[in-house]
Amino acid sequence: MSRGSSVKRPSLTEKIELWLSNGRVIDGLWIGSFLSDDPERILQRVEAALRLIEPSAPLHYQRVKKSLSRIWVQLAFAASIRLVVTGLMPPVPIAGDRRRRRISLVWPGGNENPGAAVLSTAPRIDIDPGTFWADPYPMLAKMRQEAPIAFVPQLGSTLLTSRDDISISEKQIDVFSSHQPAGLMNRLMGHNMMRKDGEAHQVERRAMFPTVSPKTVKAHWTALFQAHADRIIDGIGPGRIDFMRDFALPFSGECLKSITGLTNIGFEDMDAWSQGMIEGIANYAGDPAVEARCHAATAGIDAAIDDILPVMRKHPDQSILGVLLASGMPMESVRANVKLAISGGQNEPRKAIAGTVWALLSHPDQLDLVLRGEVSWLQAFEEYARWISPIGMSPRRIAKPWSIRDVSFELDERVFLMFGSANRDEKHFERADEFDVRRDTTRSVAFGAGPHFCAGAFASRAMIADVALPTLFARAKRFEIADDEPVRIGGWAFRGLQNLPVKWRH
Ligand code: HEM
Repeated sequence: MSRGSSVKRPSLTEKIELWLSNGRVIDGLWIGSFLSDDPERILQRVEAALRLIEPSAPLHYQRVKKSLSRIWVQLAFAASIRLVVTGLMPPVPIAGDRRRRRISLVWPGGNENPGAAVLSTAPRIDIDPGTFWADPYPMLAKMRQEAPIAFVPQLGSTLLTSRDDISISEKQIDVFSSHQPAGLMNRLMGHNMMRKDGEAHQVERRAMFPTVSPKTVKAHWTALFQAHADRIIDGIGPGRIDFMRDFALPFSGECLKSITGLTNIGFEDMDAWSQGMIEGIANYAGDPAVEARCHAATAGIDAAIDDILPVMRKHPDQSILGVLLASGMPMESVRANVKLAISGGQNEPRKAIAGTVWALLSHPDQLDLVLRGEVSWLQAFEEYARWISPIGMSPRRIAKPWSIRDVSFELDERVFLMFGSANRDEKHFERADEFDVRRDTTRSVAFGAGPHFCAGAFASRAMIADVALPTLFARAKRFEIADDEPVRIGGWAFRGLQNLPVKWRH
């Protein structure tokens, strides 16, 4: 791009052309393009528009140039197609980020927020989705070091990866909003508390509280959880088992049946429906088979609710269904929040139980510390959830233009709060990549860091640390990892073990 030394003001015709062009304001400057269906031509026009800015506002131009690595052009010929022009200006230096100019089309509907492809000025970091799924931690460490706020085109989102940014931002609900009206979760599962802000969110959270409060968990649920654990362990024969399939899955399923009030279904249904919804709400590619499975899951839950409704109305109990009905919440919201509890309350305890067992069995010195009573079971669970956070990410929508340091966010941009990365932040956790039951985990955000802090946290701690872990290790006469099959682990938004082959006898 040429840099004339004499400051040339744009002519009136140029100004009019610029304002007539189809563009937007970036850092106080209007960047325009002309109506055209030829991407190369649009690029030329945008470059021409920038050239106009350079001489008339050199300081502004430098600022834009420094921070701008992408320019949005919205084409008039098809309002639904958004053309993202990347690399028009030299990107903010990120190791290896020196790509040629690229144009890519982003189709609304493929994202949880239709406007999600609106971009911040965050530096761009590319990931390989397969590698990220297999092990996101090296890439997250690179982001924390080089660009703690980074735009990742493969995820269509800007990622916050440092613990401090996440902890501060999550509480700013006027900026980092949970309200994502056109999102997949709302569309497929109904509008639940997790996708609401402020009072609308608090009302529903308060309505659920009588089920999940520490008092109810202690007085009511813990004994039930214990009965589930004992019964399931009784049924496990000696020998080679898949601990995930034979204990973690049925145990979290039975506990969640009790908590939700859907005692009329099988634990297998609970697991399959939870999985169906989780896959459905992450179905950014719009795979019809995944969406169909999600619809089947929500239809199954609605049928189970309808089936038990007359009993629950007559004899309301302390379950989520019972207390939400008693609160007078509209039925649509009751259904949506029961579905939320199922989508979040099955997989995470299942993975956390199997994961903590695996971590302890593969670190025998640390298991000894717990068995000797020097470290609590709760501490072992909390450290596992820090080390491999079962929920590694929570999405937010930018509700008003905002800046953090030199990154400005755009309205409706989609942001991912990367809890899994925050929990490996070396500023807060020494040797963050190591599992160490002795460490202080009070700064872990495995259950969140703001008003949406996991409603099921007390129940989970009771389920896992008060019941599952102590009962398993007390009753086991043999409990070893079997070496005939590898332990499979994956995921970044939801991460954990998929199997856990063990040799067991009680
Ligand atoms: C190890 C187990 C679990 C983990 C690690 C976990 C983690 C989380 C996280 C990270 C969030 C989002 C927090 C945020 O965005 O700030 C969340 C929200 C939530 N979780 Fe859990 N969860 C677990 C178990 C459960 C269980 C068993 C239930 C069922 C009762 C449950 C119900 C919920 C609900 C209702 C919300 C939404 C809260 C709100 O929007 O106010 N979770 N959980």
